[in-house]
Parts: sequence; C-alpha cells; structure tokens
Amino acid sequence: MADRFDRKQPIGVFDSGIGGLTVAKAIATLLPEEELVYFGDTAHMPYGDKSPDSIRYYCLQIAKFLLEQNCKMIVIACNTASSVGYRVLLDFFKKSSLFVNVVDPLVDATVLRGFSKVGVIATKATVNSRVYGLKLSEKQPDLEVASLATPLLAPMIESGYFHDNISRAIINDYLSQPILQNIEALLLACTHYPLIHKDIDEFYQHKVHILDSTDVTAAAVQKKLADHNLLNDKRRNPHRFYVSDYTQSFEETTRIFYQEEIHLEHCAIW
Ligand code: DGL
Repeated sequence: MADRFDRKQPIGVFDSGIGGLTVAKAIATLLPEEELVYFGDTAHMPYGDKSPDSIRYYCLQIAKFLLEQNCKMIVIACNTASSVGYRVLLDFFKKSSLFVNVVDPLVDATVLRGFSKVGVIATKATVNSRVYGLKLSEKQPDLEVASLATPLLAPMIESGYFHDNISRAIINDYLSQPILQNIEALLLACTHYPLIHKDIDEFYQHKVHILDSTDVTAAAVQKKLADHNLLNDKRRNPHRFYVSDYTQSFEETTRIFYQEEIHLEHCAIW
C-alpha cells in the first residue's frame, strides 16, 4: 500500500518528451527536498498523434520503470497521457504508488473561478478524449467548454519557435478560430504550452485568463504527499532525468523547459 512507503523515496515524473519538464520544475521549486526521477519518452513523442491504445501501452511501461526506481508517487506530466492513460495506470498500479495527473488540478483550478465560457487548447489525442469537457461539466454543469486541437504548437515550441514572428502567426491563426470566441479563460492543456503563455497573453491583450497545469499540479503533489504523510524532509540524491531516445538537441532544449542546465541519460526501456 502507498501509505507504507517511505518519505525518502523519489517522485517519478513522466511525459512524452521534454515538455513535462515544466511540471517537474514547478514541483522541484515548490518541494526542493523531494528527489525526482524524470522520464521523457522521446522515442515515441509526440503522443498527441498516437492512438489511445499505444498511449496506454507506453504509460504502463513507463510506470513499471518508475516503480522499479522505487517511486512513492508517479506524476503524469503530460496532458495527453493523463487524458488517455490515467485510468489504466490506476487499474494496474494504484496499490503500488500514488498517482497525480495534470488534468484534475487544472480542472479544479478552473471551476473555482466561476467562468461561464472557457477554451481548451491541447493535442489531438487530448481533445479527442473529451476528458476536459467531461470533467469540467461534471463539476460545473453550466460551464461552456470550447476545445481546439492545436497540433503544431508542441513541435513549434520544441524547435525553439516562441516569442517570434513564426510562433505569433501560428498562435494567431489557432486562437482566431470562431470556436474560441468570447472565452473568459484559456486552458493551456499541454505541458509544452507554458512556454508560450506570454505570446498568448499578448494575443488576448491581457483580457483573457490563461491557466496552465504547472503550479496547480505541483500544489496537488504537495497536498497528496502531505495527506499520506510522505513529504520528504531532506533530499539526499540529485534529480535524475532519463529519455528513451537521446539526442544532443534534446539535451540542449531541456534548458528552455527546465530553466537550467540538466543532463539527460539515455534509458532503453523499449
Ligand atoms: N506534453 C504533451 C502534453 O502535455 C504534448 C506533446 C505530445 O504530443 O507528445 O499533452
């Protein structure tokens, strides 16, 4: 049982690639005494274009790896994996670890604000899962939710295009779609998107609330660990960052997501 875990055990964090480092960074900042084991499935990214069955299979294999690393908690730092794979992870492993996904904290933070119409931008797989619409209307039935798949944004950010003319043109095109008219808030439902928060804010001239899953997920991690009396008091080891396919370019890109230099280790779990 998770309650029998030791507070000194690490927290596993995973994503399809390196976008989830935005969530890892928020956790490391809020909980500096926690040790993180990050896994980025760079061999299979982007998850957003994969089938639900493939995404679920990847999630299960990654969770197995993180459990072998003795993680007391696994954070699904990917909206696509959270939308499609969270249930199956609980079905298989809820007795072996605590789980936190990035969807529920963002949904909870949204309904607290009492908006009447919100937009959600995400990968195709997240939008097709309809998870945001379902969870939001379960908690706030009168909330209008407009979801738009924005598949170019994650590769654009990973290629280093943000705060420039190319990113502005793509963002403008997506956010001008009729479906997103008259929203009071936009949910950045992909862990890459915090990097374009500023560009989106500029597009809306600061008139639309922009919410993402970084800090709210870190707060959910803190709460769940505290509830289980599993908050670490002192970190003994450095964080570890693994990827399933290593390239120099991934290593260089990590800096934009984690805001500091980190070393990626190749880990062949496939
Ligand atoms: N980081 C993933 C997410 O939050 C998006 C990237 C991908 O498609 O793999 O949904």
